[in-house]
Amino acid sequence: MKIGIFADPEAVADVAATLVITAMARTENRSLGVSTGSTPLPLYARLREAHARGEFTLEGVRAYSLDEYVGLPVEHPQSYRRVLFNELVGEGRTGLREEDLHTPNGHAEDVFAEAARYEESVIDARIKLQILGIGTNGHIGFNEPGTSLSARTHVEVLAKQTRSDNARFFGDDPDAVPELCITQGAGTIMEAKKLLLLATGATKATAVRAVVEGGISMHWPGSVLQWHDSVVLLADEEAAAELENADLYKERWELTTRRNM
Ligand code: GLP
Repeated sequence: MKIGIFADPEAVADVAATLVITAMARTENRSLGVSTGSTPLPLYARLREAHARGEFTLEGVRAYSLDEYVGLPVEHPQSYRRVLFNELVGEGRTGLREEDLHTPNGHAEDVFAEAARYEESVIDARIKLQILGIGTNGHIGFNEPGTSLSARTHVEVLAKQTRSDNARFFGDDPDAVPELCITQGAGTIMEAKKLLLLATGATKATAVRAVVEGGISMHWPGSVLQWHDSVVLLADEEAAAELENADLYKERWELTTRRNM
């Protein structure tokens, strides 16, 4: 795992944007895994700015969401399809075409069959780069503690902690947060060629420490990333505050970046 530690979320977003822009320019297979939550929003703003300057486009790229709430109407402002549409789709944003934005259908009559369909489409897409955030309980996508680290796309029950963390998007009412979602499994996420994990803010410090320096365990689902051979973690100082080996990671980042490794 390559770990970069930066002063603040803005600096994290700058580096993340460079990585995404480079990865999407270089590749034949232009498929990008996108995530929601507040963490990647400054990155998406950078991508829109680069698009406005004519330096970057997601036109022709297929984008795949990690997850979606079950039961929210698609036009609900917090449905992940709506959030990603508003952030990325259209010429005024990043050039991503609406038909190239893929999200699980949280309104499917049979959400289990929908999870299986979505799994197949993600695997077929062979995601080149997957953007990830992390929950305060260590979840990636919506893989909550206790979920198999080799799980495929499935219907997940949201942890109480997650519903309370996400209540800020639902008028501060945890009960307004859906109880179920469809999420790529940790095993599905691990199939992406490269993973870009972003973590900012003090509320993520314990999860970052557990995921990077703890054992690989279902208790902290993001810890499965230790087993992937191409992960970049970009954290701000607050999210990195509990890392025991922070100085080593910083030295390694400096040296490998300088040598273009
Ligand atoms: C959300 C999403 C995750 C996200 C995480 C952290 O609910 N399902 O993909 O990484 O929880 O969210 P935030 O970035 O808002 O802290």
